[in-house]
Amino acid sequence: ALAPTSLDVFTEEEQMLREAVQRFAVDVVGPKVREMDENECMDPSIIKGLFEQGLMGIETSPDHGGAGCSFTSAIVVIEELAKIDPSVSVLCDVHNTLVNTVVRTYGTQEQKDKWLPLLAEKTLGSFCLSEPASGSDAFALQTRAKKEGDHYIINGSKMWITNSSEADFFLIFANVDPSKGYKGITCFIATKDMGIQIAKKEQKLGIRASSTCTLNFDDLKIPAENVLGGEGKGYKIAIEILNEGRIGIAAQMLGLAQGAFDKAVPYTYQRKQFGQPIGTFQGMQFQIAQAAVDLETARLLTYNAARRKEEGKPFTKEAAMAKYWSSQVAQRVAGSAIEWAGGVGFTRETGIEKYWRDSKIGAIYEGTSNIQLQTIARFIQKEYS
Ligand code: CAA
Ligand code: FAD
Repeated sequence: ALAPTSLDVFTEEEQMLREAVQRFAVDVVGPKVREMDENECMDPSIIKGLFEQGLMGIETSPDHGGAGCSFTSAIVVIEELAKIDPSVSVLCDVHNTLVNTVVRTYGTQEQKDKWLPLLAEKTLGSFCLSEPASGSDAFALQTRAKKEGDHYIINGSKMWITNSSEADFFLIFANVDPSKGYKGITCFIATKDMGIQIAKKEQKLGIRASSTCTLNFDDLKIPAENVLGGEGKGYKIAIEILNEGRIGIAAQMLGLAQGAFDKAVPYTYQRKQFGQPIGTFQGMQFQIAQAAVDLETARLLTYNAARRKEEGKPFTKEAAMAKYWSSQVAQRVAGSAIEWAGGVGFTRETGIEKYWRDSKIGAIYEGTSNIQLQTIARFIQKEYS
């Protein structure tokens, strides 16, 4: 049994969704986790299962084939999946909180009618912003788009793109007018069959079942009707959606930390040394209690940011805090969990070491920890000066 959340702010619908996702994660994802990690490959049946469970259009309206649920519901799903496998969690997270949200928020009626049902039912998406020379400095991107008649021609490459091995739908950020600086950045919808080349697939420390590839665009021809939100609006789309997306990564890290805790703590009450369960030594009890406090703070920050976003209140600072803190908590709790299980925690058998490997990415993607701190600090400066 998985520990229930102690936070009592969920609607009945969100609670039911949490339980359904727990069952899917434990029964369907659970048996495949180790194999997927070792093969560094997502099992296609998991992606199919996510679509069948209605978890790939969580906030998409039922008119467009989605579940019509709240933003907090999406966060609940990401958290629950991460308890069992952070790779499956990020696949679902990118698809929902970045890809679907961009189309839902900035798409024209025609674009929404065309793409949202596909994204809810069968087409996996990816979000292509980062490049070899622009990670934190995302708006310095070098991919160029040139208008020719009723098309744009895109040249350049993207790096680190999650889901790109399995995706058919790509949101590509390219600059149509570099003389305007980042105000030339434009968001395009592309599909794989337009000629996107999937190049190097990264071999990673963690979230190894989640694909991360370089993409090359060599005169990629995209119809002008596939511009999202208008020319030059891409930078705002990217950062406004990332502000929300960061709550998703906070939830992924929270779920990961809870997953490691749920695996290791029961072991400490079974394993005996010096004639007593190791979890009853005060040295262990205090570490476990500290981890529980860490989890609670990460949970409060994450769901506070989620509700603020949902209620239309300012949430950017809170989202940055939640992502920054949850990714720290994930590393700490997953690291402690290995130690609590001793030698067996260090082996692949228990699955605990994987949480620790998977935790490291939380401080890197969707804005590094320094970028989150910079975001928080900018708000503090505005508030106090
Ligand atoms: N929210 C809203 N607007 C913001 C903003 C924020 N958090 N940060 C900056 N902006 C706006 C500014 O208001 C300004 O817009 P205007 O000119 O219209 O006022 C514009 O962005 C440029 O501002 P700055 O000059 O201050 O920004 P910068 O160029 O120094 O850096 C940034 C901006 C690129 C957004 C940077 O702060 C950042 O967040 N870098 C991290 C990039 C990132 O998160 N990448 C994630 C890729 S996707 C991914 O990683 C997915 C995955 O792994 C799963
Ligand atoms: P850099 O920006 O080079 O940062 C290196 C170090 O310098 C960091 O510690 C950073 O904090 C620090 N630093 C940089 N600038 C500053 C500053 N101004 N102040 C203080 N410190 C600073 N991108 C996408 O677009 N789509 C995806 O789907 C996607 N998925 C990813 C999946 C994985 C597994 C990984 C590893 C990355 C993914 N990314 C994706 C890219 C990710 O968002 C970037 O890696 C991240 O934004 C950091 O950029 P960088 O790797 O170039 O590091």
